[in-house]
Amino acid sequence: MDSKSRVIAVLSSKWLKVCMVILIASLCTLEACAKNAGKNVVIAAGQSCVSAECHPAVGKGAFVHGPVATGDCSFCHRLAGETPHQFLAIEDVEGLCFECHEKMDLGTVVHQPVADGNCTGCHDPHQSANRFQLKGGGSALCFECHDASIGGGKVVHSPVEVDGCGVCHAPHSSDFQKMLMAEGNEVCFTCHSDKQDEFAEKKYVHGPVTDGCVECHSPHSSDFNFNLPAKSNQDLCFTCHSDKQVEISKATVKHGGIETDTGCIACHNPHVSSFPFQLDAAPMDLCLSCHDREYSHPNGTSVADMKTLLENNSSHHGPIIDKDCSACHNTHGSVNFRILRGYFPQKFYAPYNPDNFELCFMCHNDTLVKDAKTTTLTAFRNGDQNLHYVHVNKTPKGRTCRACHDAHATTNPKHIRDAVPFGAYQLPIGFTKSKSGGGCLPGCHQEFKYDTNTRVKNR
Ligand code: HEC
Ligand code: HEC
Ligand code: HEC
Ligand code: HEC
Ligand code: HEC
Ligand code: HEC
Ligand code: HEC
Ligand code: HEC
Ligand code: HEC
Ligand code: HEC
Ligand code: HEC
Ligand code: HEC
Ligand code: HEC
Repeated sequence: MDSKSRVIAVLSSKWLKVCMVILIASLCTLEACAKNAGKNVVIAAGQSCVSAECHPAVGKGAFVHGPVATGDCSFCHRLAGETPHQFLAIEDVEGLCFECHEKMDLGTVVHQPVADGNCTGCHDPHQSANRFQLKGGGSALCFECHDASIGGGKVVHSPVEVDGCGVCHAPHSSDFQKMLMAEGNEVCFTCHSDKQDEFAEKKYVHGPVTDGCVECHSPHSSDFNFNLPAKSNQDLCFTCHSDKQVEISKATVKHGGIETDTGCIACHNPHVSSFPFQLDAAPMDLCLSCHDREYSHPNGTSVADMKTLLENNSSHHGPIIDKDCSACHNTHGSVNFRILRGYFPQKFYAPYNPDNFELCFMCHNDTLVKDAKTTTLTAFRNGDQNLHYVHVNKTPKGRTCRACHDAHATTNPKHIRDAVPFGAYQLPIGFTKSKSGGGCLPGCHQEFKYDTNTRVKNR
């Protein structure tokens, strides 16, 4: 009840009418009196403060304030002048409390009502159903002044629901912002000590975790799992990594790996990691944790089992020896076939155009295929005849790199395939390597040999 309705309630009571008759009615409550600062309340001599008629509720409650329990009204409601039962309005409530209580060891951050001296905003001076004569139990006290929607989300953080606000916030003051019990993430670690251990162990800490757990988790409640501010972790990540959102939305070749139900955390740990980029495992191990099986589709397309391929083919390509699948593939998607970082033709033949080999020429020199004659640019030559030029630099039926090389691993040296898909047919290559050259017996022509020192005359 606010003071206005209290006055109305009192005005309509029988007791008040009696009081009015004896002309003290208009000032019958001390609170009303306090509102009329300076005026005194007069109570008839010999009358007890607490009786069936007067202040019957004062001192009755599960938790009664010490001096009230002893019936000592007069310490707080002080006599004015000589006349007994004349009481002064309490103007400085805080000062009054501090007459008996130690001034609270005030921290640097003081709760506004405490700073305002509004002790009775939370404590009833007489009694209450709650410990410490609090005006509300648990969170209800705080919601007298704060918006209850703080704890109103669909997913409420367990301590808010179970223990109330006081486990994290000091009611009066503290040395930490928002009157928290500890500094920053330490508040969270008081309970989530397992996380603290995990965080101490691992080398790479995600930026916002250092800034504070509350960058992502509401300490109170939210509408989504783990008290996150968004339904999916992906939406959460995009609030800060908007460039990734743009990159992913522009990709015309999507990676199945980022479209799983687990979203971004299929690969990234939102908190800490032992690997760069917050990855859950060493980069290549991560790729192979999913690419350890073949994915096949009813329309006949498939994605090969890369783990087995690498195990069965011991001659690994440079970037794979470096365990860097991302050197060629963009995990977040791409505009190129097979989420490649550069264009790479899907076909066996393509009219010669250096742009066709953008991917390979990210690392290798494009002069490899440019000159018909060379003694330096490539070892795939017969004398000074550049065999890369012969095969690739042709229109319309130039061979693409895939006609001979595999980008991942082979049993042959120089990443030459055993066979290459040619339509439905696996065209064998029949490659042999010699000291200064090699030879092949492919499905497309008779055996040819080459030698970098002395040109071999093939039939
Ligand atoms: C520890 C100090 C203290 C003691 C002891 C105390 N009061 Fe109060 N009382 C207050 C304060 C503070 C207020 C509120 C004044 C304000 O907010 O301005 C108050 C208000 C009142 C009011 C106004 C109505 C209300 O409840 O808000 C009445 C009536 C009252 N007291 C009666 C008593 C009686 C009767 C006793 C003795 C049994 C008593 N008080 C003992 C501090 C005390
Ligand atoms: C006349 C002295 C006196 C005044 C004035 C006084 N108190 Fe008290 N207060 C006590 C005593 C005595 C106790 C009981 C101490 C105990 O149980 O340890 C007490 C207990 C309390 C408690 C409960 C503490 C506990 O540990 O359970 C609170 C809260 C409290 N007072 C708040 C206030 C507030 C707020 C005011 C000002 C409105 C106030 N007191 C004014 C004497 C006073
Ligand atoms: C925002 C609400 C709020 C305000 C305002 C407030 N208190 Fe408290 N107070 C509490 C709560 C909650 C507790 C119980 C703390 C606990 O659970 O340990 C408490 C406990 C106390 C206690 C007993 C425990 C202790 O810390 O000694 C005293 C005495 C006390 N308050 C006095 C005061 C005084 C005096 C003021 C005004 C200067 C005041 N309070 C203002 C909420 C408040
Ligand atoms: C009597 C009214 C009142 C009660 C009851 C109350 N508060 Fe407050 N509180 C305020 C006011 C006023 C402010 C300062 C204005 C604001 O930031 O909302 C404040 C500020 C705060 C702040 C800091 C807000 C900020 O953004 O810096 C926190 C945290 C807080 N209160 C927690 C609590 C908790 C926990 C409780 C319950 C133990 C509680 N309050 C009970 C009035 C109250
Ligand atoms: C698990 C610890 C914890 C609990 C329990 C908790 N809070 Fe907080 N509260 C925090 C942290 C941490 C912040 C600081 C958030 C930030 O900096 O963004 C905060 C901030 C606040 C603020 C400032 C406004 C805001 O939302 O940032 C208010 C008000 C507040 N809390 C009230 C409450 C109330 C009321 C309760 C009980 C219903 C409560 N808190 C329970 C940890 C907690
Ligand atoms: C007073 C102890 C306490 C404090 C302090 C605390 N928590 Fe919690 N938290 C819990 C409990 C208990 C659970 C429920 C655990 C469960 O359900 O397995 C929980 C659950 C969570 C969950 C959801 C976990 C899940 O598996 O659903 C997150 C996220 C979380 N807390 C984050 C935080 C953050 C961030 C902070 C600091 C602002 C924090 N907690 C402070 C006790 C605490
Ligand atoms: C970048 C955002 C972000 C930050 C910052 C963050 N978290 Fe999380 N947290 C998440 C996400 C996303 C999940 C959900 C993981 C999942 O779906 O398995 C999560 C889950 C959790 C869980 C429950 C699941 C688990 O891993 O046990 C806890 C507890 C938790 N976080 C605590 C914390 C603590 C403590 C901090 C601060 C030290 C923190 N978080 C900081 C994003 C974050
Ligand atoms: C509150 C903002 C915020 C949210 C939400 C967020 N991040 Fe971050 N993230 C950062 C910041 C800040 C950095 C550090 C940036 C830096 O060091 O360049 C970072 C760094 C990263 C890095 C490492 C980048 C690098 O170059 O080393 C990865 C990977 C990452 N975040 C992934 C995620 C994922 C996945 C999510 C969702 C689970 C997410 N982030 C959510 C702010 C955020
Ligand atoms: C399939 C695994 C995988 C998934 C799922 C994934 N990432 Fe990554 N992410 C990586 C790898 C591997 C790297 C490091 C190499 C690189 O740059 O590609 C990385 C790097 C990053 C980086 C830092 C470097 C950069 O490219 O900016 C950010 C930020 C990032 N990811 C955000 C995200 C977000 C946001 C999501 C969810 C939409 C996500 N990732 C999903 C594997 C993944
Ligand atoms: C969380 C599991 C997962 C991880 C981790 C993962 N992938 Fe994938 N990847 C998939 C799925 C699922 C597909 C789609 C398979 C299908 O066609 O059904 C896919 C498809 C691909 C494709 C074929 C794309 C196309 O559509 O043509 C390539 C290439 C690929 N992944 C490379 C990588 C690389 C490189 C990494 C490591 C950086 C990686 N993947 C990590 C699950 C994953
Ligand atoms: C040197 C560049 C390069 C590197 C490094 C690389 N890839 Fe590839 N990847 C390619 C090319 C080119 C293709 C397309 C091959 C084709 O169609 O013949 C491809 C295709 C794939 C495919 C689809 C295979 C299929 O044909 O079904 C998967 C899966 C794949 N890569 C995974 C990986 C993984 C995992 C790694 C790291 C172990 C990796 N790649 C490293 C270039 C590379
Ligand atoms: C990310 C860089 C990178 C890309 C892209 C790349 N390679 Fe390589 N390649 C290397 C490295 C590193 C080596 C090992 C060092 C060396 O011998 O040059 C290598 C070695 C080779 C070798 C064996 C060289 C030798 O002398 O043993 C061949 C053949 C080869 N690459 C072909 C290709 C083809 C074909 C492509 C395009 C599908 C390609 N590479 C794309 C980095 C790359
Ligand atoms: C007709 C088969 C064939 C085609 C097509 C082919 N290569 Fe080669 N390539 C070879 C052979 C055979 C070698 C090994 C030469 C040696 O060391 O004996 C080789 C060697 C290489 C080397 C190692 C360095 C060198 O030149 O000796 C690189 C790099 C290379 N090729 C890249 C490519 C690229 C990029 C393409 C596509 C533009 C391509 N190759 C197309 C057969 C081919």
